[in-house]
Amino acid sequence: MAEPKTVTITDNATGKSVDYTILEGTHGAPVIDMQRLAADFGYFCHDPGYTTTSSCRSAITFIDGNKGELLYRGYPIEQLAQESNYLEVCYLLLYGKLPDQTEWESFNRAVRQHTMVHEGLRRFMNGYRHDAHPMGMLVGIVGALSTYYHDSLDIQDPEHRELSALRIIAKMPSIAADCYKYSIGQPYMYPINSLGYVENFLQMMFAVRAEPYVPNPVAVRALELMLILHADHEQNASTSTVRLAGSSGANPFACIAAGIATLWGPAHGGANEAVIRMLNEIGDARHIRKFVDRAKDKDDPFRLMGFGHRVYKNFDPRAKIIRQACHDLLNDLDSSHSNQPLFEIALELEQIALKDDYFIQRKLYPNVDFYSGIILSALGIPLSMFTVLFAMARSVGWIAQWMEMLVDKEQRIGRPQQLYVGAARRDYVAMDDRG
Ligand code: ACO
Repeated sequence: MAEPKTVTITDNATGKSVDYTILEGTHGAPVIDMQRLAADFGYFCHDPGYTTTSSCRSAITFIDGNKGELLYRGYPIEQLAQESNYLEVCYLLLYGKLPDQTEWESFNRAVRQHTMVHEGLRRFMNGYRHDAHPMGMLVGIVGALSTYYHDSLDIQDPEHRELSALRIIAKMPSIAADCYKYSIGQPYMYPINSLGYVENFLQMMFAVRAEPYVPNPVAVRALELMLILHADHEQNASTSTVRLAGSSGANPFACIAAGIATLWGPAHGGANEAVIRMLNEIGDARHIRKFVDRAKDKDDPFRLMGFGHRVYKNFDPRAKIIRQACHDLLNDLDSSHSNQPLFEIALELEQIALKDDYFIQRKLYPNVDFYSGIILSALGIPLSMFTVLFAMARSVGWIAQWMEMLVDKEQRIGRPQQLYVGAARRDYVAMDDRG
């Protein structure tokens, strides 16, 4: 066997040198195993925002930011978006392989069996203020699941872990739709388990008890695509939060609630909502230049929402797929759809920004959220529900990463170090003696 590659670190002050092993993954940049650095030298690594830190080994998702490539368990996102469906992608992310017919039927049945939520949880939901933001409700309700489903909380038991995973995937659409129904004062709808995952969600969102409801197949496909594209994205802020929460042994519902809270921020999952607010504020293609100039002005905190990504420095591959889906959906629904002008402003903004030196030099391209909000609003999903839909899609990624972490032999409680820059040690001064 070939000798592992190493990197030598030398402390110039003492002359001490230590070799550190370079670990190679299947794809992507190799990493230096720095676990013994503090023991060898007494130094920690300083890396705010973790831009150069690998926090775990993972076999779930791979992103090549320079090539604009995204793989789930090795399969390119373009192929999954074209050929697969969201529940099959869930199976793939959880179990690492595409299901055969028997596995598929059994998984599908298992998810359908868990779509209902405990009635007590609905009473809990009824306690929210009438105008509560659905993301605030979602954080609370998902966290509260642990108090209703404590028969599956032994995180050392693989069957418990699997049951919790199924419950989270199955109940997220019911909870998300309930949050919406609560916000508009309509009665909750129950799941209809003969429907597919996406159809079921749409009927719980948009059906009313007094009327029959048939989901539009174009809308179903567009939403299915959205869910596939958002299902996982390796060690982003919310996923890392789920892992960090899980590293302490917290229950899966608490961990997913922590992920939802992190996703809410406008620099992460809140961006799709922020994009629509920005496009509405621009209002007319003639105002685009002014907004682009504001985004470039260092004295103005405004940023072009839906532009830039920590990892993608070429093009977000999900944005390419969803951009086309936006076109198709708006054409299919109605060419005079009320979202058409918004989409046209978005396309023009995209063209202006892509030709601008500021954005070119910083490799700022439209990300998936630049277009996903347009699809969601064309489907009649209100702005306040956008990030809820993202959370619904990402739940499977979070739970797959949480399950992977629990069986990882290297796993320890997450505990970053710090560079302390506060006051040096000093003695307490009595009140009367303070100057
Ligand atoms: N508009 C204008 N300038 C920007 C933008 C933007 N959207 N994004 C980054 N920049 C600039 C920064 O000002 C900085 O410029 P400087 O080098 O002159 O100081 C440079 O580009 C690098 O930006 P950072 O903030 O260091 O990049 P980082 O990787 O930390 O941030 C992020 C990535 C948070 C996505 C950022 O690009 C951003 O805020 N974008 C808008 C929000 C957004 O769309 N978020 C969705 C992310 S995708 C997702 O969660 C699904």
